[in-house]
Amino acid sequence: MKRRIFLTLAAAATGVLFNAPVAQAADPVKIGFLVKQPEEPWFQDEWKFAEIAAKEQGFTLVKIGAPSGEKVMSAIDNLSAQKAQGFVICTPDVKLGPGIVAKAKADGLKMMTVDDRLVDGSGKPIASVPHMGISAYNIGKQVGDGLAAEIKKRGWDMKDVGAIDVTYNQLPTAVDRTTGATDALVAAGFPKANVVEAAQAKTDTENAFNAANIALTKNPQFKHWVAYALNDEGVLGAVRAAEGRGFKADNMVGIGIGGSESAMNEFKKPSPTGFYGTVIISPKRHGEETSTLMYDWIKQGKEPPMLTLTTGMLATRDNVGEVREKMGLASK
Ligand code: GLA
Repeated sequence: MKRRIFLTLAAAATGVLFNAPVAQAADPVKIGFLVKQPEEPWFQDEWKFAEIAAKEQGFTLVKIGAPSGEKVMSAIDNLSAQKAQGFVICTPDVKLGPGIVAKAKADGLKMMTVDDRLVDGSGKPIASVPHMGISAYNIGKQVGDGLAAEIKKRGWDMKDVGAIDVTYNQLPTAVDRTTGATDALVAAGFPKANVVEAAQAKTDTENAFNAANIALTKNPQFKHWVAYALNDEGVLGAVRAAEGRGFKADNMVGIGIGGSESAMNEFKKPSPTGFYGTVIISPKRHGEETSTLMYDWIKQGKEPPMLTLTTGMLATRDNVGEVREKMGLASK
């Protein structure tokens, strides 16, 4: 109880998590980092960079895989029981927003979100929780621009090209990403009617593969394909499905978003596949910077910026090393 009598000025001023304690000088700082899909390389990378922050600042990082609402709720209680002061979370479902906020508040924990922004009962972002995400629509446009440039470079007639748009419309950042890609393609003269939506049930390769297979079966009229999704895993699913139909690197151009191991492994294969490129985003910012911001909040009562949107850079097999270096990811 003693911990609870200390209020942070920032929290009191904004009315957010007003009972969250400020760590006392001697309290060891403990920060949770909850991710929705611990098996996905992007989240492994976020954790890796959060560990770097923990070593640098001298706090304990508690990594928790939380693929369901129940897991999230019990993880928060568990963090509170082990005297953590705050956590960073990529939620398995943005609609859990009000429940997660209430639970953190009841347990006296500071929270910030990463990647996927919580929404309230009417679907609006919960603006009172600090968030770091990607500039989703613009990054989607970079994907669409990259696809359009490659279609033109190959001299394909756009009427013969189908676009597999792997969608996951439950997640606002996913909608923004794929909408950005579609808009950029259409702005470059791509026929909107050739965009085939393929809804995935979960944001992984297997579910994208299943969705893309249906899109391919229903559209035998196209000679070439392009594909995009909210992340690399989604595009890989589409690329694998296309391979199964005989559309290999010379007739398939997929561009993902992420730049983690799934994409890197693809680029390391001896010959090119239909996975042409990825817009590399920064697990360093999303892992190291978020947990450092949380640490400063706990230690100094300095609330993180309410909204930070990070950028990305398109990379292909040819320039991936250079792009990773530019993004400060080379030594990972
Ligand atoms: C979402 C996706 C992840 C990754 C992050 C990046 O959470 O599901 O694959 O792209 O966004 O912010």
